[in-house]
Amino acid sequence: MTQTHYLDAVHFKNYSGRPPIWLMRQAGRYMASYRAIRQNYSFIEMMGNPKVARDITLLPIRELGVDAAILFSDILVVLPPLGADLSFHEGVGPVIASPVRTATDAGQLKPFDVADCDFVVEEIQLIQAELKPQGIPLIGFAGAPFTVASYLIEGRGSSDLKETKKMMFSLPDVFHDVMNRLTKATIDYLCAQIKAGVNAVQLFDTWANHLSAEDARAFNLPYVKTVISEVKKAYPQIPVTYFSKGMSGILEDVADLGMDVLSVDWTHDLPALRAQFPRLALQGNLDPFVLYASSDVVKQRVGDLLSKMGRDPGFIFNLGHGLLPDIPYERVKDLVHFVRTWE
Ligand code: CP3
Repeated sequence: MTQTHYLDAVHFKNYSGRPPIWLMRQAGRYMASYRAIRQNYSFIEMMGNPKVARDITLLPIRELGVDAAILFSDILVVLPPLGADLSFHEGVGPVIASPVRTATDAGQLKPFDVADCDFVVEEIQLIQAELKPQGIPLIGFAGAPFTVASYLIEGRGSSDLKETKKMMFSLPDVFHDVMNRLTKATIDYLCAQIKAGVNAVQLFDTWANHLSAEDARAFNLPYVKTVISEVKKAYPQIPVTYFSKGMSGILEDVADLGMDVLSVDWTHDLPALRAQFPRLALQGNLDPFVLYASSDVVKQRVGDLLSKMGRDPGFIFNLGHGLLPDIPYERVKDLVHFVRTWE
């Protein structure tokens, strides 16, 4: 398949007989080849080493035959340039040594200097030297401000975002200050990735589902809208995807944020979404937990989704959330194979 496959679907022009496919977290620990490289480096070292990051980005292209690559990095790379001490711990995930909780903490954040992310620019150039000749698009990404703020404020992953919401409700000015800083950083960071050569970008807003409709409208969506509109203003031809979980109660608001592609989790019925938003490209939404089942079950679930969405010219096959480290590698290969050979 050619570079135009993924981008054609973004523009509602995919008439190739099957939808394009790529997978969130497609380069990760479920792969033996990833684990072999990971033995020699920490996760932060891998992301900061352009040649290693390039090699990892390309693993799923070589091994699975997906239609797009996604930059091997993390949504939290914007935090160290702001002055946050970020580390990753085995079995815990990301940890911020001094979480931002007060006006003083927020005031001590540094202005974001995109030059601190120069290693990402170099990674993109190295990856594109390989992908461009093959006609495979590269997707860049960033975290949406709310989801990144939740790590900065909590200090680590949290099941209820208690500290984030505590700040939101008791120190709203401080919360908006943090969101404004992250919004500016996200715009600069995405524009730097586009300038370096990515073909599309995706915003990950994994934890946006923790907010009520009113609070999403007051504390999250305006910032997402600013990120999307500023990036589109600078680079109108670069497609922007917005990924979030849940959100079905405020879909009208979400669909109005200006993105080209809406990426949703498995709780959404894609044909209903298509009927509601005829001009929005849709990405998703197989439940990744299906991949713990047998090959036959995976085939049936893929067939079910494709029978509903496979001929939609604006549909991109993906999961409803990222691949998990212990998902069997063979089922992921099966999944891509079933989509690629469907007709
Ligand atoms: O999709 C891709 O393959 C691109 C790379 C990518 C990673 N993280 C690699 C990664 C992307 C797009 C992300 C996004 C990300 N990172 C999100 C939003 C999407 C989502 O999955 O919810 C969030 C919330 C994070 C923050 C983060 N980074 C967490 C919570 C963790 C720990 C979880 C875990 O599985 O250990 C990470 C680490 C991380 N990011 C790994 C990878 C491959 C694991 C690193 C390792 O230990 O080898």
